[in-house]
Amino acid sequence: MKSLTAALGLIAPVLAGLRFPCSTLTFQRLDPVVQPGSNPSAHVHHIVGGNAFNATMTGDVSQRATCTTCQMAEDFSNYWTATLYFKNPTNGSYHRVPVVPVQPLLGNSNGAEGGITVYYTQFDLSKDNLKQQPIKSFQPGFRMTVGSPTKTSQPQIGLRYQCLQGNNRGAEMPDFPTKPCSGGLFTTHHFPACWDGKNLDSPDHQSHMYNTIKLDGFTNAPACPSSHPVRVPQVTYETTWDTTKFNSMWPSGGPNPFVWSFEGSGYGTHADYMFGWKGDALQRAMDKSECFYDGCGSITKQAMATANQCTIKDMVHEETVGWLTQLPRMD
Ligand SMILES: *[C@@H]1O[C@H](CO)[C@@H](O)[C@H](O)[C@H]1NC(C)=O
Ligand SMILES: *[C@@H]1O[C@H](CO)[C@@H](O)[C@H](O)[C@H]1NC(C)=O
Repeated sequence: MKSLTAALGLIAPVLAGLRFPCSTLTFQRLDPVVQPGSNPSAHVHHIVGGNAFNATMTGDVSQRATCTTCQMAEDFSNYWTATLYFKNPTNGSYHRVPVVPVQPLLGNSNGAEGGITVYYTQFDLSKDNLKQQPIKSFQPGFRMTVGSPTKTSQPQIGLRYQCLQGNNRGAEMPDFPTKPCSGGLFTTHHFPACWDGKNLDSPDHQSHMYNTIKLDGFTNAPACPSSHPVRVPQVTYETTWDTTKFNSMWPSGGPNPFVWSFEGSGYGTHADYMFGWKGDALQRAMDKSECFYDGCGSITKQAMATANQCTIKDMVHEETVGWLTQLPRMD
């Protein structure tokens, strides 16, 4: 029997890395990396992954979680970003922007609800380069952030916006689009992939990591410097914010009306990562050569219908959806 690729006359690309959907777990004002123990934290986050998510998270979270919204059933990590709001230019009220799955999704990912598409790449999207540069998994307790809500200028490599027009993603931009996007707003967060080999965290949650990437997109990962000699997976989040129902309320020629949950600036886009893979599951996945998206048979996948049943309690007890006369936040 001919393969689907041959039947469709497509050229099969060589693909490397892991790519999988995680449905939305919750929208809450909690941040166990930057503000552990604070309930509420400074601003609302969109969170996916394991159900051990909490205001404080220590030790091996994969030992405490019992389910995950991610397709990879052994991945109890948590992944989160700020939440996007529409600020109505007419009356100043805020409405939370819904999240929809990243399209097009490959493989068995149909059925994700909202959420984030997560990548763990070894070198780039077409080559793993494992013989030259082996990848070491993160360790239990590991966490990191990328970007900062206090940034108001200066683009950061790997943190980008794209204005979707149908299936066309358009150019990568460091700030919000200046015109309505008919297909929604696409955000990308690339994390650095060189680790100091010692610290599971650092006071700024970033200096235990080092970024060797000088261009946007999924580019080759050059060798790590001696200060941060350990190459870990390059983690990336993609999120599609369904801004379309607000487009008619964006007056023609007016400024961008979308804000993050911390208000601030588009340059303040940021993301947080809390490692939570069970045992050596991530190491096994990273050691496999040229497997893209499917875990290469070495790690267990679950149906997204099962992933969608994983939930956590509302621990903050506040309205986050809108219309809200002010954002649920603290400066
Ligand atoms: C979250 O933390 C609180 C306080 O430590 C604890 O009572 C609760 O069981 C935790 N929830 C989860 C889902 O781990
Ligand atoms: C602002 O406008 C929206 C959309 O028309 C409306 O639903 C909301 O109630 C308004 N908010 C206030 C405070 O008037």
